[in-house]
Amino acid sequence: MAQQITVTEHLLLHQKQVPMATGRFTRLFNELILSAKIIQREVSKAGLVDVLGFTGDVNVQGEEVKKLDEFANRVLIHRLSRCGALCAMASEENADIIEIPDGLPTGDYFVIFDPLDGSSNIDANVSIGTIFSIYRRKSPSDTRLLASDYLQRGSDQVAAGYILYGSSCMMVFTTGDGVNGFTLDPSVGEFLLSHPNLRIPEQGNIYSVNEGYYHYWDKPTLDVLAHFKAVGMSRKKPCSLRYIGSLVSDFHRNLVYGGIFMYPSDNRDPSKPGGKLRLMCEAAPMAFIVEQAGGLATDGVRRILDIVPEHLHQRVPLFVGSRFDVEKVREIYTAAQQA
Ligand code: AHG
Ligand code: MN
Ligand code: MN
Repeated sequence: MAQQITVTEHLLLHQKQVPMATGRFTRLFNELILSAKIIQREVSKAGLVDVLGFTGDVNVQGEEVKKLDEFANRVLIHRLSRCGALCAMASEENADIIEIPDGLPTGDYFVIFDPLDGSSNIDANVSIGTIFSIYRRKSPSDTRLLASDYLQRGSDQVAAGYILYGSSCMMVFTTGDGVNGFTLDPSVGEFLLSHPNLRIPEQGNIYSVNEGYYHYWDKPTLDVLAHFKAVGMSRKKPCSLRYIGSLVSDFHRNLVYGGIFMYPSDNRDPSKPGGKLRLMCEAAPMAFIVEQAGGLATDGVRRILDIVPEHLHQRVPLFVGSRFDVEKVREIYTAAQQA
């Protein structure tokens, strides 16, 4: 421990190297770190809900027991409101922009988060996560916030990251200068630098997709799937299928081992084209991280980071992971478009 770098130390070192980074950014990050520790504490007790009280009950402190995703959302909103660095925030769980309450200090950053990703896995003790994405407003601080201040393309992100509540708790993020991973040492309550300068292998042997939706997919998407199941020039055996159903966990495994995560659009509900995942709180932050680690992220054809959102909760198909694998998907979709 004496020799190890904590996440806060890492940020302070980084702050010295980047003149535009201010102490406010570090304060914002510190609140994210504290929120992560609070959420981790509750996640680790999730299996005890039946022992400690059902959701909706009142616990011994007189507080209502909340569902974990609601709890995570409240923690993030409460902590981040007080960091003094934000002009506003947004959450996957809230339809509209969340304003900073009157009387609290504000700043120029905008954060959007997915408080608990993979929430269908909570009751089965399977890894879940939190995703965050940070922008800086474009209009002057003392003017009214405009939609263009938060509907920014992914390439304008100042930082993005996730917390993975897994067999250990990790925080992985980028500020545009590579990707670093920090693991929570529960004995001292600090995130310590455990995975410096993470790089995703150029090609992987894993594909992650909900293949149960096979019959909802179009021909090019079926061709994409066939590619990863086939034995090709560069692959002696088919890719292995690994799908947890928590984007953070599937993404993190692929980042470490190499591979591709896919959530294509499908024809389950024609009124909702564009897949399930949300551009701003899921796809764009993962795209920023993966590109900083040497990988790629597209909607099949377009680079995710180039897409300008039209609204906060816009959905987008997502193909993210090892460079060669995501390129191959682009080739297949492009050829289909030109045919
Ligand atoms: P959330 O729990 O934040 O709503 O996100 C769930 C997402 C994502 O984590 C996962 O990759 C995907 O939904 C799984 O969807 P399917 O069950 O349709 O495969
Ligand atoms: Mn999610
Ligand atoms: Mn969620």
